[in-house]
Amino acid sequence: MFGWVAGFFTYETTKSVVVKSWLVGIINRIAQLLIIIYFVGWVFIHEKAYQVRDTGIESSVMTKVKGFGFYNNTLMDVADYVMPKQGASMFCIITRMVMTPNQMQSTCPETDRTFSCNTDNDCKQHISSNLPSGKITGKCVTEAKRCEILGWCPAEDDLKTNETMQEVENFTIFVKNSIHFPRFNVTRGNLGKKNKLKCVFDPENNTDCPIFRVADVLKYANVDFQHISTNGGEIGINIAWICNLDQHVDNCKPKYTFTRLDNAFKDSSITKGYNFRFAKYFKTVDGKEYRTLHKAFAIRFDILVSGNAGKFHLIPTVINVVAACTSVGLATVLCDIILLNFLKGAKQYKAKKFEEVSDSVSRSPSLDLYQTSQVTIKREEKSSDDSGAYSIGHHV
Ligand SMILES: *[C@@H]1O[C@H](CO)[C@@H](O)[C@H](O)[C@H]1NC(C)=O
Repeated sequence: MFGWVAGFFTYETTKSVVVKSWLVGIINRIAQLLIIIYFVGWVFIHEKAYQVRDTGIESSVMTKVKGFGFYNNTLMDVADYVMPKQGASMFCIITRMVMTPNQMQSTCPETDRTFSCNTDNDCKQHISSNLPSGKITGKCVTEAKRCEILGWCPAEDDLKTNETMQEVENFTIFVKNSIHFPRFNVTRGNLGKKNKLKCVFDPENNTDCPIFRVADVLKYANVDFQHISTNGGEIGINIAWICNLDQHVDNCKPKYTFTRLDNAFKDSSITKGYNFRFAKYFKTVDGKEYRTLHKAFAIRFDILVSGNAGKFHLIPTVINVVAACTSVGLATVLCDIILLNFLKGAKQYKAKKFEEVSDSVSRSPSLDLYQTSQVTIKREEKSSDDSGAYSIGHHV
């Protein structure tokens, strides 16, 4: 029992070996300097490790498109070419339409070449197909050399037009974005302190303006207008809020970037661009329903908001300062490797560093003295720490 208590109340300390070598000394200081530069320059100044960050940004986006276009000899306004109409963070601007007017419920020949036929037998195989514009009846319309369908007739022929609405280039998109960082209770909007909104976004001279010309957006996203207006496609307008709340809150401003989101499929032969169908329904005087089918090719815009805010906080500061101080000690590891392996006289250094303490210690004269005077000596040897430090405890 006493032995255990005595063992507990011993103090261990490391032994330092001073190496008078210029080379190792210089390497040690350089390594320490590099570690300090890394922590000060990268961890503290660049990565702002002294801050806590709020990444849970809350955001609301409203959009408004403006401009007039001409399509099929009709003047098109926002209500004609923007879908959906609510002005949400996702909207489409229609650039090309294949219209099939006066469709009524009846039977007619399909237009798609996949459904060509000579006899009724050629059509029987398609009966449960999902691909045609209506349900295949199984009959062959010999004059048109196509299978007959039951549904909205005449069937759509989407090879009919390639004309696009060129004026879309000059349309403008107004984006209203309000964000909130709940952790710091900071609310910001992308209009700043403006009270007039007569500007067009420009990445050099007018970075704060929330009004974008379609042609500019496409240019910044490296998209060809003719190609995307013919086939449709998806463009992302990214709004990034990276805020340092240690500075004045007015410096918390959004940064706009533009990307083509469907880039992975832009040259795909199976699926090209972006399109969808919708119909407008009418009634004849005698109550029969008919419709105009629209196949719309559109540029789809997605407003993507991201961001985070940082502010000084004591806990991360203390943790990182301690980590920095501890890491400076890593220089020792490097120097030990060089000292004990690659330097001339490495063996000698090793011998000094890792001193072996064995029974022979008792042969030292001072201890012999005790032994001869018949005093029992209890010796305990312990070695600890891979740095070679050791401790010797004597309990007399
Ligand atoms: C777009 O606007 C410019 C200048 O206002 C004009 O010269 C150009 O013709 C317009 N483009 C289209 C397709 O209308």
